[in-house]
Amino acid sequence: MTPKLSIVVPTFREVRNLESLSLALDTVLRKQGIEYEVIFVDDDSNDGSKELGAQLAQHLPVRMIVRRNEKGLATAVLHGLDAARGELVLVMDADLSHPADRIPEMVAKLESGAHDFVLGSRYIAGGSLDASWTWFRHLNSKIATWLALPLTRVRDPMSGFFAFRRAAMPERRLLSPIGYKIGLELLVKGEFKNPGEVAIHFADRVRGESKLSWKEQVHYLRHLRRLYQYRFPFLAEFVQFGVVGASGFMVDLLLYLGLQSLAGASHVTARALAFWGAASWNWAWNRVLTFSLRRKTRKRIQWPAFLLTSLLGFAINVGSYYVLTTYVPFFDTHKILALGVGVLLGFGFNFVTARLLVFIPYQTEIMEEQRYGHNKNDRHI
Ligand code: GDD
Ligand code: MN
Repeated sequence: MTPKLSIVVPTFREVRNLESLSLALDTVLRKQGIEYEVIFVDDDSNDGSKELGAQLAQHLPVRMIVRRNEKGLATAVLHGLDAARGELVLVMDADLSHPADRIPEMVAKLESGAHDFVLGSRYIAGGSLDASWTWFRHLNSKIATWLALPLTRVRDPMSGFFAFRRAAMPERRLLSPIGYKIGLELLVKGEFKNPGEVAIHFADRVRGESKLSWKEQVHYLRHLRRLYQYRFPFLAEFVQFGVVGASGFMVDLLLYLGLQSLAGASHVTARALAFWGAASWNWAWNRVLTFSLRRKTRKRIQWPAFLLTSLLGFAINVGSYYVLTTYVPFFDTHKILALGVGVLLGFGFNFVTARLLVFIPYQTEIMEEQRYGHNKNDRHI
């Protein structure tokens, strides 16, 4: 018989938690009369998990999938979701941090149609964290959460405890499971209209070790950048182009001053040379950052193309300043505003030409393959 609810639990060296979790789930769900299955997706822990899984499967609706050629939390979750048979799917940690007794409420919210995605949340009224958390850990978690807030409408988008209808699973090719936050990924890429939250107390693990490391936090920042690029493509490019441009201005300034004081260049020569250095800097960073998802055009074509459009942008910047201050009396008395207008026009020109001419988009299908195709960086560390 197909169960109503499939519970996917990624595991790595969790042998000491498997039994307690399975029993806790059974107690709660049997009492509520919810037909369920548990799918453990283990990355070849080699700690007896596999054997224990087989043993538990004799009297509980538990399956243990052991992956040998792939590692990583996010892909493990996707693997488990692929194997799920229930109408509803739920993902949770193995270490008893996520309270099993909140599951019926999460299920009820999905079944009543009140929500199409439900998270176990630490950051809504009634939610709480383990008392042992230090202020540093709080702050770390809060900052990570704030960074993700514009992407979703939930308060705890970092949660690894979530449920939705299996039929609503986003297409696999849309997903790029880098890092830890597969819940956030699904929430952003899925067409969920009405995500909801259930308050939970997040208990710290008692047994086994956490696998969250600094490296995962860096992955998280990369993941966020991708999600912003996905959800707000124009804005993400605009902001990154602006940040690169601002850093380019610093390079410009340093070269201008450095060439004069260290290399004895005249101020006009220094001005002219610094421009090329700064424009090259901008090109390089826009290539790896702002337009990282665009076609990798050959450098010896793209670099001069960018320099050329930057030069035109520069001419527009200075030219408009000249025209405004010469022919418009208002700007003659407000020269700093003319300078601002010039900078904006030059920046706008550079941005538009960079997007349309220098960094060419992929054709849609190739682009999606590139963006969301399987990612080799998702390795357990
Ligand atoms: N299969 C597999 N492969 N499972 C993994 C891997 C892996 O490479 N790495 C971690 N896991 C499993 C762990 O065994 C555990 O069941 C779950 O993923 C979460 O790992 P923890 O190491 O306990 O994570 P955490 O407590 O630091 O992070 C939790 O809190 C976050 C919110 O603060 C997780 O619930 C996150 O999902 C959550 O976002
Ligand atoms: Mn944990």
